[in-house]
Amino acid sequence: MKILAIESSCDETAAAVVEGRNVLSNIVATQIAEHRIYGGVVPEIASRRHTEAISTVVRDAVETAGLTLKDIDAVAVTHAPGLIGALLVGVNFAKGLSMSLGVPLIPVHHLRSHIAANYICHPDLKPPFLCLLVSGGNSLIVKVNGYTDFEVIGRTRDDAAGECFDKSARSMGLDYPGGVMLDKIATEPDFIKYPMPWPKVEGAELDFSFSGLKTAVINLTHNAEQKGAPIDVPVLSATVRCRVCDILIANTMRAAELTGMNKIVIAGGVSANSELRERMEKECADKGYSLYYPEKKYCGDNAAMVGAQAIHEYEAGHISGADLNARATMSIT
Ligand code: KG4
Repeated sequence: MKILAIESSCDETAAAVVEGRNVLSNIVATQIAEHRIYGGVVPEIASRRHTEAISTVVRDAVETAGLTLKDIDAVAVTHAPGLIGALLVGVNFAKGLSMSLGVPLIPVHHLRSHIAANYICHPDLKPPFLCLLVSGGNSLIVKVNGYTDFEVIGRTRDDAAGECFDKSARSMGLDYPGGVMLDKIATEPDFIKYPMPWPKVEGAELDFSFSGLKTAVINLTHNAEQKGAPIDVPVLSATVRCRVCDILIANTMRAAELTGMNKIVIAGGVSANSELRERMEKECADKGYSLYYPEKKYCGDNAAMVGAQAIHEYEAGHISGADLNARATMSIT
């Protein structure tokens, strides 16, 4: 079954053609350059750029796959969660396309698709497994019981890990997207040189809280600025990266212990983080767990991962009609 998948939940307009776990094409038009001057994504600009790019991106995806629209068996689209105006561009385009082609329309949850990025990179990977899902807007520990059966056992109470990286980076004067820059500039891994809190959530040991950590970094940089004291940006970057990883790794390992699951998956934009990958490799090897994470090109937003999840949604009978709407928030379950 050849699925044409569309993704427009944030600042990438993406389309892909996927057959099972086989990616026939994967086109991403990024808006990073446009949002960079504002230091973050401007929703109104994102929606407008999606509108301009989507036709070309979809056409490129079909052509790169060596197909025509007549060969497409279903259209899949990210419908939630994300920036509402941005999502609506993809959802409306997908609705029109599926109706005109007379093929099924498959709605895909954005976070489910981040997990499915791993199916593309690891053909042998099958649920059940435990997933640390970390992106710009979400930080979750999920028990993936089946391809469309999810149980959230840990979540952030405030900011996501990606938000903490991005805003810490911005306060240090690093370019957007901050998490990527911070990871590049940071000195060695597993290295704490500045005082950095380790926030814990009382009575919920698998939950995260990153807002205090973010505020600690912002206060540190502002205090230094007011006093005219220098900040060693690569060392502070390494410190923040290390503490975020300490927290993510500790909670994931505890979740593995509590659930008895020994297959661990990392997903979402932050799964590209070099220290997170390196230290999780080591932790999992020590415990005898198997670890999976996506190739870097599938960590950020893309449509191939939407297609990879769509086949399972289709098999579960999750098909929409013309009344499909976009939603800014929606639980992964
Ligand atoms: O999954 P994603 O592309 O978009 C959302 O769905 O949110 O995640 C974007 C987030 C941003 O916060 C970005 O800074 C972060 O992933 N990110 C990283 C790295 N690459 C991307 N954070 C830390 N280290 C990286 N190498």
